[in-house]
Amino acid sequence: MANLDVALLPNHWYAIAASTDLGSTPIAASLLDQQLVVYRTTAGQVVVLDDRCPHRGASLACGQVKGNAIACPYHGWQFDLDGHCAQIPSQQASARIPQAAKVASYPVQERYGLIWVFTGDRDRAAQTPLWELPEYDQAGWRVVQGQFDWAADYRRVTENGMDVAHSPFVHANSFGASGNEVIADFELEKSDLGAQIWIPIEPKANYRGSFNLLGRKQETPKAGRSGAAFHLPNITRIDIEFGNFHLILVGIHQPISATTTRSHWLHVRNFLTAGWADGGTRKRTAKLFQEDQKIIEGIAPLRDRNEISVASDRLQLYYRQLWQQHHSSLVAQG
Ligand code: FES
Ligand SMILES: [Fe+2]
Repeated sequence: MANLDVALLPNHWYAIAASTDLGSTPIAASLLDQQLVVYRTTAGQVVVLDDRCPHRGASLACGQVKGNAIACPYHGWQFDLDGHCAQIPSQQASARIPQAAKVASYPVQERYGLIWVFTGDRDRAAQTPLWELPEYDQAGWRVVQGQFDWAADYRRVTENGMDVAHSPFVHANSFGASGNEVIADFELEKSDLGAQIWIPIEPKANYRGSFNLLGRKQETPKAGRSGAAFHLPNITRIDIEFGNFHLILVGIHQPISATTTRSHWLHVRNFLTAGWADGGTRKRTAKLFQEDQKIIEGIAPLRDRNEISVASDRLQLYYRQLWQQHHSSLVAQG
């Protein structure tokens, strides 16, 4: 029987905050209950440390940035960007800083408007590529970003992000047009850490928002395709393509605790690229997630599951299989 307790696959990059969350003061972040502090040095470098001062355990996230270092709010000990204690204000000049006075520091990347951390084997961070979204930097694409919080296991949220059969039901009042219930056969295009599927779709008169625009445009082809994909451990991508009109919705589902998840979403499109449309995009994307939320937060935890799957669930089943493989190899390595 597979072990379905919530776990982190540790040797992956995890987004733990949006770049815009991080100003000149430190912030707290959580990765499956591991408490982290994120701060930007005065030179602009992002640093992630364990959020627990080794002196009396205060949260460094309530402290202050001092040049490259962060100062604990309780007794002012300062920790450098590699986590070593650089200063203890109460000590006399002749006293030594105890060697054990340090906090763990983690490799960080800032990419796609997000702060990513690698809490696994430090040596593997450099050779572990970050997931890629080439359209993010390409001319002709508009990117809108946001966050959405769920009271659910991150794997449930991730599975929902690649679920192709729920839209006509859960999203009947937004983009999920009735008439699209039957899912055509699809092939899994597998990669090392994920898979993608494509299914044919037709624009419907009752589409709303950007989809509505696609449905109404004279030049919109009358048939298109929709892609769903995942990338281990927690990233999903939906593509909607009608001819040259292309819309991508990415979800990067940060496990905050065993029962809470924050989705960092990116809405990326190559039409309606002016900024005036961004407010509407934010509103409609939040509505989509709210529609999902009603269902997802009501599902039993994964470990209690006794589920039956059908052909249209094959992408999710492959996600479970790949997740389990990575988790088992971890357990085998001890
Ligand atoms: S608890 Fe951090 S300096 Fe004392
Ligand atoms: Fe949904």
